[in-house]
Amino acid sequence: MLIRPRRNRTSIGVRSLVRETSVSAQHLVLPLFVQEGDGDTPIASMPGCSRLGINQLIKVARTAYDLGVPAVALFPRLEEALKTRRGEESLNANGLLQRAVITLKKAIPGLVVITDVALDPYSSDGHDGLVLRGGVANDETLPLLAAMAVAQAKAGADVVAPSDMMDGRVAAIRHALDSAGYTHVGICSYCVKYASAFYGPFRDALDSAPRPGEDRPSDKKTYQMDPANVREAMREVALDESEGADWLMVKPGLPYLDVIRAVREQSDLPIAAYHVSGEFAMLKAAAANGWLNYDECLLESLLAFRRAGADIIFTYGAIDAARLLARP
Ligand code: PBG
Repeated sequence: MLIRPRRNRTSIGVRSLVRETSVSAQHLVLPLFVQEGDGDTPIASMPGCSRLGINQLIKVARTAYDLGVPAVALFPRLEEALKTRRGEESLNANGLLQRAVITLKKAIPGLVVITDVALDPYSSDGHDGLVLRGGVANDETLPLLAAMAVAQAKAGADVVAPSDMMDGRVAAIRHALDSAGYTHVGICSYCVKYASAFYGPFRDALDSAPRPGEDRPSDKKTYQMDPANVREAMREVALDESEGADWLMVKPGLPYLDVIRAVREQSDLPIAAYHVSGEFAMLKAAAANGWLNYDECLLESLLAFRRAGADIIFTYGAIDAARLLARP
């Protein structure tokens, strides 16, 4: 035999020299759930994750930052009484999310704070857009999203992340941010977001699932994408690029690595992948049963995102991964 691929695997040193991709804390974003008050509420379907009061949020963000994780993505859990059809609370300069952003930026100025732009945490309908005439109205939602993004930028968000999947929202948000003087605030567009069952634990955490009712859709399939489609993803990429997106997101993650690869081949923009709540829950559940090694499977999953072409990875395991990667 002249050719033996195993020669390139003979030792730790050789393997390290020929390694094609790497993952490190610098690529990770930690998603965090914030709630009113001082207490924390563990999320049953996401072991190790809790909804955090603002004081605790600062502590967890600082732990991540000190381990080299440059960014957090914030998701507020609103009290039921504050939810309305148009989600007006999202504009409250004193609202939970805005206070969380202000406090975080003051405590850790170098931390990149990413905020989610979508109506669902604020919506009494449990939808990402405005429910009108029994459906989720696209064009009537755009000004609400644009105003929400400006409110978040005003609080100090570095990057706003529209996750709603309305058509035209990146342009609407870009124009609104620019006219309000926030030309430096970036847009991470959830460009290719599928109507996925893997978001279940996230909706438990925020109590944000679509509400049952005659006058509204029971799922998000008229705006989030059909998991069967990838050519359609290329249309979304082209649109979001032309509307001024700074990063493109593919979501969920591991079941959609082929989509990350396809987006990588089409676009020069940074790509973010979201290792979503259901994927994290699967790892945790198997590990709790002794069926999988959580640490190793987490790092292998993150590496797979990078191999597929992702630059940035949103993962609930960011602190765990950063700790593991820091080991000599
Ligand atoms: C909502 C939003 C969702 C997630 C991020 N932003 C849920 C949804 O679309 O219903 C899911 C994240 C996860 O599952 O970890 N706009």
